[in-house]
Amino acid sequence: VREHLPVPVSWRNGAVRVLDQRALPHTVKYVECRTVDEVCNAITSLAVRGAPAIGAAGAYGVALAAAQTSSSASVHAAAARLERARPTAVNLAWAVRRTLDAYDEGGADGALDAADAIAADDVAANEAIGRNGLTVIPEHDGGARVLTHCNAGHLATAGYGTAIGVIRAGYDAGRVQHVWIDETRPVLQGARLTAWELHELGIPSTLVVDAAAASLMAAGDVDMVVVGADRIAANGDTANKIGTYGLAVLAKHHDIPFVVAAPWSTVDLATPDGRAITVETRDPDEVTHVGGTRVAPNGVAAHNPAFDVTPAALISAIVTEHGVARRPLAKSLPALARR
Ligand code: MRU
Repeated sequence: VREHLPVPVSWRNGAVRVLDQRALPHTVKYVECRTVDEVCNAITSLAVRGAPAIGAAGAYGVALAAAQTSSSASVHAAAARLERARPTAVNLAWAVRRTLDAYDEGGADGALDAADAIAADDVAANEAIGRNGLTVIPEHDGGARVLTHCNAGHLATAGYGTAIGVIRAGYDAGRVQHVWIDETRPVLQGARLTAWELHELGIPSTLVVDAAAASLMAAGDVDMVVVGADRIAANGDTANKIGTYGLAVLAKHHDIPFVVAAPWSTVDLATPDGRAITVETRDPDEVTHVGGTRVAPNGVAAHNPAFDVTPAALISAIVTEHGVARRPLAKSLPALARR
């Protein structure tokens, strides 16, 4: 991990400290959450976002509750609130429950140790995803030209990144030469966060509007698409930022590998397929406004699903820290659990 990237989530002086991603790229500042409600608010308002990062924040939220009360019922109630803060990324529920189990076993110290372990394990998993991802990067003279959507980088995790982890490892190995960054409407995680992160890392990249992906692929300028995930069902169906499904359809049409990179904490074997994944619907204001400025007429209806589900049939490979699952994913993905 290059040290100059700010730490997305940490425990500091008895509070949960999150890098305020709403203020990026112009300002690097932090939100110090001193109550569980403040942690929930940081998660729902996208101050902290990205599946593994909200998992770490939720885990530290449980540790915060445990440090502040001796009532087990209060800690359990706080965990339930944290778990509900956002519905789609399974990492949140997974991390909250794991930390709550540790609290039940070992009290407040046990909860904090568990939260620290979740964050440390996530960084190690992402570095392993980067290494494993080298095997899925297509050969191309001078390195592959890769397209990514949303932000599945250092900022979206406890550190290093998943999809951007594959890009970082690939760039360091001379296997990636350039990244196309989808701006990622409506909240612009690509334009604000991925563009900032890749610039900080010195990885050559170019920002495009989401609608440019089709013509870039048709022109032969994209060798691979790599994205992160919020929840991967047992059969490989994958929920990720809205627009991911469309990219997968485009990649199939143009015969371009479409790769998902995620830690095992994003795989939800209890969910059989994508139909069972809850997709968060967010405030229509995110669609009618850009950067806080209204662009749509007053009174217009807007619909804002934050994620979509890409069918496994469109996914070439899923890269995890346990290894790479390839088609048929319904068979190869659950098999990785035993590694
Ligand atoms: O709404 P967001 O910004 O939390 O959505 C994030 C994504 O869709 C990411 O691709 C996903 O969480 C993976 S992050 C490693």
